[in-house]
Amino acid sequence: MQYNVTVIGSGPGGYVAAIRCAQLGFKTALIEKYDTLGGTCLNVGCIPSKALLDSSEHFHNAAHTFKEHGIDISEPKANIAQMIKRKAGVVKSNVDGIAYLMKKNKIEVLTGVGSFVDKNTIKITSKEGKESQITTEKVIIATGSKPTPLPFAPFDKKRIISSTEALELKEIPKHLIVIGGGVIGMELGSVYARIGSKVTVVEFLDNLIPTMDGTMGKELTKVAKKLGMELYLGHKVTSVEVKGKEVLLKAEPKAGGNAVDLKGDYCLVSIGRRPYTDGLGLEKIGIDLDKGKIPVDDHLKTKVDNIYAIGDVVRGAMLAHKAEEEGVLVAEQLAGQKPHINYLLIPGVVYTWPEVASVGYTEEQLKEQGRAYKTGSFPYKALGRARASMDLDGLVKVLADKATDEILGIHIIGARAADMIAAGVTAMEFRASAEDIARISHAHPTYMEAVKEACLAATANRPIHM
Ligand code: FAD
Ligand code: NAI
Repeated sequence: MQYNVTVIGSGPGGYVAAIRCAQLGFKTALIEKYDTLGGTCLNVGCIPSKALLDSSEHFHNAAHTFKEHGIDISEPKANIAQMIKRKAGVVKSNVDGIAYLMKKNKIEVLTGVGSFVDKNTIKITSKEGKESQITTEKVIIATGSKPTPLPFAPFDKKRIISSTEALELKEIPKHLIVIGGGVIGMELGSVYARIGSKVTVVEFLDNLIPTMDGTMGKELTKVAKKLGMELYLGHKVTSVEVKGKEVLLKAEPKAGGNAVDLKGDYCLVSIGRRPYTDGLGLEKIGIDLDKGKIPVDDHLKTKVDNIYAIGDVVRGAMLAHKAEEEGVLVAEQLAGQKPHINYLLIPGVVYTWPEVASVGYTEEQLKEQGRAYKTGSFPYKALGRARASMDLDGLVKVLADKATDEILGIHIIGARAADMIAAGVTAMEFRASAEDIARISHAHPTYMEAVKEACLAATANRPIHM
């Protein structure tokens, strides 16, 4: 069978690339080894984690804020089986949606592991071991990533678990130990802390979510502590051992001092993800990995001129929307267009409550660059909207160029930050100054007023409501 473009992997990078290729008139095939489409994001990532975050947030509100709002109910009980069942339904409707989109766009879906025979021939091996081959002019590799294990404590998937198992637990952990206070650790840690688990986070660095602006991690630390999480920042895990139904963990403070011994019933290891290329047969086409990633140029082309790679398997942030943009970019390039991605303006979001959302440079990066900048911040607690909803935690921080006032970064921790950051991305795409945003009318009362106020603070140190 001859295709113009074959995409390997059906995550947000792969399926979006396939749709855009089909829209542009290419005869397109999509190879996926699992029976459901959508990759990590839809099956065991973005979507199921958000489903559980939402359920657990409802539970938390019922238990802790309804009374204050004047809603009297008897003490709520968390039903994990129902939460997981609802999550499975959400996943199913999303993955079915992708199957529908493939049909609608006349994309041929081939189920099985795709591996290169040569640069134009791909072998597909089904679960049952049946092999078939297709030929193709171009290939887009979108094989994604997998959780990174601790070298001395591999996943047993029962007690030492990754995010995949944490999305499927049959019981609420009594004590969930989380190794890694990054995005997964804080999102899934929040889920279980809200529904009654004791959650202890051990993070190697001195701040939570350390890739984001430092202020965000500091604020998230306060929020996590309020939720009852125990945090060991700046700690190095030295051993993890499973004994029956218990996990025993030892961690040492990096700065020296007494080691910590923890005993839990589950240990979530969330120390990052690694690109996934197993079984792809890259050796057949002469592609060598660089620190596990497929090396690509600025056009996402590998060293083989008809083969491209996108998403988690290449350099850059491991985010669904980054993978999607790359899928569109490659498809449009193949059609002779000249698309562009501004990687600085790929937003990052942590879906805790309050949410954390960020775009552009962090203050730490500006310091490192030696760039002259000014900052403006505005706390949620000074917002009428936040008082009305009782979502008082958080702040908006705006970084702007000292001389030109151009916005260089927007960092928000607070209610609905995930949706608000789109306005920040838009402003930065149009290279707005802090004053531009400060002079735009923002509806009252909204959380977005905090962005306007932070811009007023950054541009001329004259917020109105503070
Ligand atoms: P993937 O989604 O990993 O898809 C790759 C696909 O390729 C898989 O289906 C795999 O089975 C298939 N495959 C691999 N090898 C082969 C082969 N040889 N043959 C055939 N098929 C193959 N990102 C966000 O932006 N927002 C979020 O809220 C978010 N939440 C997350 C929560 C969790 C718990 C996790 C784990 C991740 C989350 N992410 C989130 C990250 C996001 O899931 C990834 O960045 C995204 O899925 C990457 O897309 P991709 O297309 O590169 O790869
Ligand atoms: P991460 O990179 O966000 O966080 C890993 C954390 O573990 C870091 O803080 C790191 O310092 C720490 N760490 C590393 N080794 C350690 C060790 N030995 N002991 C203690 N701490 C250690 O990775 P995470 O949370 O596993 O998520 C993987 C990726 O998935 C993320 O980078 C992100 O790209 C994606 N993701 C995105 C989400 C979103 O957009 N909301 C949600 C979940 C995942």
